[in-house]
Amino acid sequence: MSRCGAARDLEGQSSRAATVGCSTLRRVPVSEEIAAATATALDRIARASSMESLKAVEPDLFGKRSELGILRSRLGSLDPEERKDAGRALNDARSAVEDALRARQRELAGDERRVRLAGERLDLSEFAPDDHARGHYHLLTQAHRRLEEVFVGMGFTIAEGPEVETEWFNFRALNFADDHPAREMQDTLYVDLGEPGRTVLRTHTSPVQIRTMLEREPPIYVVCPGRVYRRDTADATHMPVFHQIEGLVIDRGITFGDLAGTLDEFVRAFYGSERRTRLRPSYFPFTEPSAEFDMSDPTTRTGWLELGGCGMVHPNVLRAGGIDPECWSGFAFGFGTDRMAKMFHGVDDLRELWTNDVRFLRQF
Ligand code: PHE
Repeated sequence: MSRCGAARDLEGQSSRAATVGCSTLRRVPVSEEIAAATATALDRIARASSMESLKAVEPDLFGKRSELGILRSRLGSLDPEERKDAGRALNDARSAVEDALRARQRELAGDERRVRLAGERLDLSEFAPDDHARGHYHLLTQAHRRLEEVFVGMGFTIAEGPEVETEWFNFRALNFADDHPAREMQDTLYVDLGEPGRTVLRTHTSPVQIRTMLEREPPIYVVCPGRVYRRDTADATHMPVFHQIEGLVIDRGITFGDLAGTLDEFVRAFYGSERRTRLRPSYFPFTEPSAEFDMSDPTTRTGWLELGGCGMVHPNVLRAGGIDPECWSGFAFGFGTDRMAKMFHGVDDLRELWTNDVRFLRQF
């Protein structure tokens, strides 16, 4: 191809050929054409809005029929000096377009991945952030708070004691002799601490009676809610860990009538004024006389529901607590609160109170 031909050819291809004067066609330098083709290619890359459309423009960027491809095919028609520059410019253009293509691919792939992940997103949070997500006390804590409220309303204060207790507080001071068969009544869990058999997980809240007597001067009007432990296999109505509330009153001239009246008052305040209470003779080493107390309940077969144990504080227990039985007398009572909460809320399995399944707990 002659130089003139080539020149004409380039002029013919170029949209940028400008008319100068009347008849002189100015040849657009090939470098400008390469720059323009590069700009067009980069623009098409930038405008592709999906991986798919980007793929579709690819042949128009580098293919034989692409602007850059056509310019390359015409390299041979240029004179050697120009060809060298144009060749270099075309190579640079190709790398620039390739770089831009890869960058856009990465960008679009990232966008598409984000969109896909947003679509596949699962809400694994347990709660919808609405009002129901506001927590509340466990139903046992609620029961204890209500019990405390009723007793505080009756003039009692709240006392506490440790769950890991010495054998002395749990048994001895409560008038259980070392070989007393009553110790068998409560299947004790011993703690491997100090002298063997001396440290226990308290089997009832009654040791708080002794702790309170040793800490405070009578008159004493306290209730002690708390956790207790016995060696028991978990089933729907038994747990090796459960809760009790203990009551202790020590004052001058306290009688069994005061005990009966207090329990009656409590049951009516807690369960409703239509309830009645009754006492049945029983035995506990730390009370004399001792009784079981029941509450009237029309839903049971007998019409009565057993709540707990009670009695007049045994003189030996008063003495262990540093109180003179000649001057003071008192009564004590204790009952399990888990069964009360279970009954109150119509829960059929005590174990539910311990699994901490929010789907269960949020109902109360
Ligand atoms: N501590 C007894 C029990 O766990 C209950 C009780 C408390 C009995 C106070 C009498 C007086 O069974």
